[in-house]
Amino acid sequence: MRNILIIGATSAIAEATARRWAATGARFYLVGRNIERLATIACDLEIRSGQPVVQESLDLDRIGQHSALLERVYQALGNLDVALIAHGILPDQPACQQSAAAALAAIHTNALSVISLATLLANDFEAQGRGTLIAISSVAGDRGRQSNYVYGAAKGMVTLFLQGLRNRLSCKGVQVITVKPGFVDTPMTAAF
Ligand SMILES: NC(=O)c1ccc[n+]([C@@H]2O[C@H](COP(=O)([O-])OP(=O)(O)OC[C@H]3O[C@@H](n4cnc5c(N)ncnc54)[C@H](OP(=O)(O)O)[C@@H]3O)[C@@H](O)[C@H]2O)c1
Repeated sequence: MRNILIIGATSAIAEATARRWAATGARFYLVGRNIERLATIACDLEIRSGQPVVQESLDLDRIGQHSALLERVYQALGNLDVALIAHGILPDQPACQQSAAAALAAIHTNALSVISLATLLANDFEAQGRGTLIAISSVAGDRGRQSNYVYGAAKGMVTLFLQGLRNRLSCKGVQVITVKPGFVDTPMTAAF
């Protein structure tokens, strides 16, 4: 039985992934900011996995809370086998072009908060000598396109960061996996 942390657990991609893990009887700690949605997903996963699911509401932009979050995760589960970082936003590109604050806020959510969590989790996995860290980046991070380069810049930062982390930890028993989806039909892309 694997202990799995899902950060951004209300994401449609995360939920679909969790359902597959639940079929293997995994134990989950779910983190998201929409309490009602989180409770619904937790309830569904409990039935599918036959294991109790722990859930926590947190705005992941609050980077100062990340260490304490992981302490609570270890208290609840003991240790972790897998951590999936799935949260993200698709910012309004024209608004980001007009406002540095809007561009930086998008980069904070999509890159800096992910890098904060990945740094903490990587060190914990390194200390225990095993673990799998997965984060969702995007093909949008492969090159700057005029229609979404603020989103793409953040995803590119995450991709490069994880690449370095993978090189650092591959000989330490820790797997670092970068997921780079193309277009997926989820609430994030509903407007398209
Ligand atoms: N869909 C695609 O085409 C596509 C393609 C490539 C990569 N991706 C990436 O895949 C990941 C999952 O996205 P998705 O497609 O599953 O979209 P989604 O269903 O909209 O999921 C995004 C999730 O991130 C959460 N989130 C955003 N900011 C947060 C914050 N500050 N604190 C806590 N939670 C926060 C959202 O929570 P709320 O509901 O509370 O806002 C939402 O549950 C994202 O990293 C996205 O960039 C998606």
